[in-house]
Amino acid sequence: MNLSLEEIFAEIGGQPNSCSLEEYYAWARHVQSVPECHLLVFGVGRDSVAWQQVNQGNTTLFLENNGEWIEKVTHQIGSAHIRSVHYGQNFEEWEETRFSEHAVILPAMADPPFDGSWDCAFVDAPWGPTFGRHQSAHAATCAVKPGGLIALHDCEREHEQIVCRILLQGRGFELVEEVERLRIYRAPA
Ligand SMILES: C[S@@+](CC[C@H](N)C(=O)[O-])C[C@H]1O[C@@H](n2cnc3c(N)ncnc32)[C@H](O)[C@@H]1O
Repeated sequence: MNLSLEEIFAEIGGQPNSCSLEEYYAWARHVQSVPECHLLVFGVGRDSVAWQQVNQGNTTLFLENNGEWIEKVTHQIGSAHIRSVHYGQNFEEWEETRFSEHAVILPAMADPPFDGSWDCAFVDAPWGPTFGRHQSAHAATCAVKPGGLIALHDCEREHEQIVCRILLQGRGFELVEEVERLRIYRAPA
């Protein structure tokens, strides 16, 4: 059964460490506007099942670095849909390179899916006070196809704003929608 976005996000919108309802709706509408959408999600949590429901019948793959969260969410979304990833370069190390876009290291993982084939990527990890989102955002730019979409959450923070400026806008990604702390960008065609 296809659920409405109101039903899918009713329990989770606006919870601590989650997006607001308006942010969820905005990104979900973009995802659902893509036929047979291939959705890559950086980070799992309360909203993981919701993204599977939003993209029901299509491919949704989650990447997560925290073993406890992998364990918590695997039984909800199925082990085939979640993969372990390692972020090895913290934000300060990137800063030491003067935020060179070429110095960002891809997250380490087996058989990385950063292959220019994905329609949409949602970047809401790693967790704020840990590594920074330059590696996940960089990986998202490599993962999406020309014209694909990337949503980055927590853009009220200075670190995420630097990520937007250098790794998204600096690479020709166009801001197509901004809702509260969420920015949605389109890859160059
Ligand atoms: C901002 S959270 C992502 C949360 C997820 N998009 C959601 O809203 O449910 C970023 C990272 O923190 C961890 N995490 C997930 N849910 C969390 C929660 N409710 N509280 C604290 N950390 C969480 C996971 O390691 C996740 O990759």
